[in-house]
Amino acid sequence: MQSQLEKLKKETLLAIKSVKDKIDLEELENNILGRKGGELTKIMKGLKDLSVDVKKEIGKLANEVKVAVEEAFISKQIELSQEEWGEQLKKERIDISQPSLPVKDRGHLHPMTVVHRELEELFTSMGFMVLDGPELESDYYNFEALNIPKTSPARDSQDTFFIKDHANWVMRTHTSPVQIRAMQKYGAPLRTVVTGRCFRNEATDGSHEHTFYQMEGLVIDKNISISNLVAVMKELLQGVLKKEVEVRLRPGHFDFVEPGFELDMRCLVCGGEGCGACKHSGWVETLPCGLVHPEVIKAGGLDPKQWTGFAFGLGSMRLCMQKYGIDDIRLLHGGDLRFLKQF
Ligand code: PHE
Repeated sequence: MQSQLEKLKKETLLAIKSVKDKIDLEELENNILGRKGGELTKIMKGLKDLSVDVKKEIGKLANEVKVAVEEAFISKQIELSQEEWGEQLKKERIDISQPSLPVKDRGHLHPMTVVHRELEELFTSMGFMVLDGPELESDYYNFEALNIPKTSPARDSQDTFFIKDHANWVMRTHTSPVQIRAMQKYGAPLRTVVTGRCFRNEATDGSHEHTFYQMEGLVIDKNISISNLVAVMKELLQGVLKKEVEVRLRPGHFDFVEPGFELDMRCLVCGGEGCGACKHSGWVETLPCGLVHPEVIKAGGLDPKQWTGFAFGLGSMRLCMQKYGIDDIRLLHGGDLRFLKQF
């Protein structure tokens, strides 16, 4: 049996060497190592009939032969693959001296992407971190924790898409739920902005979409005041619009801020005359904001006696419209290349 094994090893290694393609190699491998009828397999199966002592010795040899043969098969397979690739490479050689074809259609960033990147860069430079949050939110984070109980009229103005059979899940109506998530995760002091998609059950028109973008901002620290808020809002608008803008502050109600404001800016699309972008009023509601309500600070796991803060929820699609003079919000999601190519 010993000589049989040695002979098999010698012959197999020789045969492997002379094989020219993968199909022959596979066949040879099957003849030697195949589970049914492979020559080496047959010998190994026969070991069980030997006496214990002989089995030990021959078994060891048989294993060595098996390993050697298997390794030879693998090396040969690699060798053949490399040859194959080499052939292909030769066929597909690229002539790098050939002049390239002129680029006809070069893509570019969507205006919303440009605005979000600029905003994030601006806020990062002021020490804010950029966070993300889920679009599918729980009723708790979207409403309850933001001081909007089931009985609040604010729920009517933020009607959204609910998930069938999951009464507690909603498509978030604003990015404000991330205020709570951020406080819970990072504590205080905190400076963060969050850009993302929001959803409302809206009839669409020139300035409303059922799916739209917001950028939330939240600052939590000691002794935060309205002047901190106003200073950051001005920095924001001028940073993105790159020009002086006329703004006005009106009282506004949001359950999660106290006091709350609506910061409007003079419409840049029509210069204040009235157009689709400003609902024909000359002013654009751009930045709802306010000082964070103590209940919200509490829901974030912080002590409202110790910490104060301000928050804002920028309608970034509207800001984008102002920046580029776009008079219909629906164009931004329309995917119409005739529109997009203008930027
Ligand atoms: N989340 C509010 C909205 O979408 C906006 C807002 C954010 C207001 C932060 C105040 C502070 O209507």
